[in-house]
Amino acid sequence: MEIIIADNAGFCFGVKRAVDMSTDELEKENDSIYSLGPLIHNKQAVEKLNGLGLKVANSIDDIKNGKVIIRSHGIPNNIYENIKNKNLDVIDCTCPYVKNIHKKANEYWKNGYKIIIIGDKEHPEVIGINGWCNNEGIIINNKEEAENLPNLKKACILSQTTNTLDKFNTLVDIVSNKVDELEIFNTICNATSLRQNSCKDIAKKVEAMIVIGGYHSSNTNKLVEISKKYCQNVYHIETIDDLSLETISGYETVGLTAGASTPDWIIKEVIDKMENINNDEMMKAIEDSMIYL
Ligand code: F3S
Repeated sequence: MEIIIADNAGFCFGVKRAVDMSTDELEKENDSIYSLGPLIHNKQAVEKLNGLGLKVANSIDDIKNGKVIIRSHGIPNNIYENIKNKNLDVIDCTCPYVKNIHKKANEYWKNGYKIIIIGDKEHPEVIGINGWCNNEGIIINNKEEAENLPNLKKACILSQTTNTLDKFNTLVDIVSNKVDELEIFNTICNATSLRQNSCKDIAKKVEAMIVIGGYHSSNTNKLVEISKKYCQNVYHIETIDDLSLETISGYETVGLTAGASTPDWIIKEVIDKMENINNDEMMKAIEDSMIYL
């Protein structure tokens, strides 16, 4: 079996930064350190951080004292106010690329532009961005929602960092016909497009694709979606335990990629196990050839 691993897979810059900053802090002291929501969309990585003492709070109201970790997705600006009012210390792990979107949303909103956000209205990153334009943004996530937009005088369009370029371009085309003065910012993160492009390149040439990452991770699910477009046999797994080695060993070429919140150690476990299939096959071939000698 040939295993082809995507050039760009696993932790992105922003997630690695958040995990490293949090780990450093927990190693200094591990009392009363809370992340506002699970730090990343990966159950196994979160469990590991919990083991170091990190507690997860769903709301600032649940924290009485100590330090609050803001995850890479970022938060609405009024939550910073709440944190300040409660005299809590902040470890701000908001990804700098997401901070840049907050800045744009705030600046253009203050200048009278309607903010249009392309993304999933339930996703914490989108909820965070909307907070920087006073929760007055219009959130669209498909053609129908773009077509239903009212005509606007001036608007600024921003994207959730994990969107595909195809979707962004399609929705921008529709919105362009409805707004007199439109400022367009492609705020899709480079890390996302690099992962999506290498996923596409590999999916085109393999018999099966394995995508490793949280079942609820938006960027991992997008890699699954892209893989399915180009490859018939796609397996989305969280860890090696979810993979049927028997099924996989039936393919001659297998591609492997991982979402931006998948830690290296989980990817390594999968690769090690798959390489063992190769070794086992080799051993079996040697044994078979010995029988025929
Ligand atoms: Fe940041 Fe991009 Fe990752 S926005 S959190 S580096 S996917």
